[in-house]
Amino acid sequence: MTTPTGLTTLPFSAHPIRTDRLLLRPLTENDIDDVFAYQSIPEVVEFLPWPLRNHEESREHTLERAGFTQIENDNDRLVLGVELVGADGQSGPVIGDLSVFLASGPNAQIEIGWVFHPDHQRKGYATEAARALLELAFGEIGAHRVFARLDPHNTASVALCQRLGMRQEAYFRESEIFKGAWSDLAIYAILRREWEDEI
Ligand SMILES: CC(C)(COP(=O)(O)OP(=O)(O)OC[C@H]1O[C@@H](n2cnc3c(N)ncnc32)[C@H](O)[C@@H]1OP(=O)(O)O)[C@@H](O)C(=O)NCCC(=O)NCCS
Repeated sequence: MTTPTGLTTLPFSAHPIRTDRLLLRPLTENDIDDVFAYQSIPEVVEFLPWPLRNHEESREHTLERAGFTQIENDNDRLVLGVELVGADGQSGPVIGDLSVFLASGPNAQIEIGWVFHPDHQRKGYATEAARALLELAFGEIGAHRVFARLDPHNTASVALCQRLGMRQEAYFRESEIFKGAWSDLAIYAILRREWEDEI
């Protein structure tokens, strides 16, 4: 057995990633309208630690997150917009975004998160994008374990974790006050060796 090491790839800078139907790349100021389109829908933010945003708030939030392109220290994050690529290869709208949090560099632990516009849900885009995110986390970034924190009542997010091969590791009952109510918290995770068995 090899001796465990933390992430040796830091600092890591985001770069565009192409999948069959999508382009994952840092957000830019050109994406403000597209991001606002999903940040202003109540059902989208129900389980996210986001308020409903107006256009100006989405603008500020998107500009801030456009700067999240490098991870180096614990709690740094990358944000990747998910752009729909047309059959002709032309770029389309940003239909969602993905986050990569550096939970611990010394322990090679990465947290991931996701959000998609309802018009583009139930088409496999989130699965396609999140699979590319796992490949990034375990591949170039060199993670040992990737995890997601979610409300277990968020059935679409639970199903996505399960499609990715993530296991439920923990279920904390009423462990936090979320949007004014006691809320449960689940942890789903996948280890590098489990991911290697998946692919
Ligand atoms: C969580 C979230 C990203 C999941 O999105 P999703 O649309 O359910 O996931 P996918 O895009 O992978 O779509 C999967 C569905 O598309 C179907 N599908 C259709 N075409 C497909 C294709 N070509 N490939 C794969 N799946 C396809 C699958 O069968 C699956 O259907 P099912 O839900 O009936 O089983 C989405 O619900 C969301 O953004 N929610 C709001 C934000 C949020 O709560 N984020 C998480 C906080 S923890």
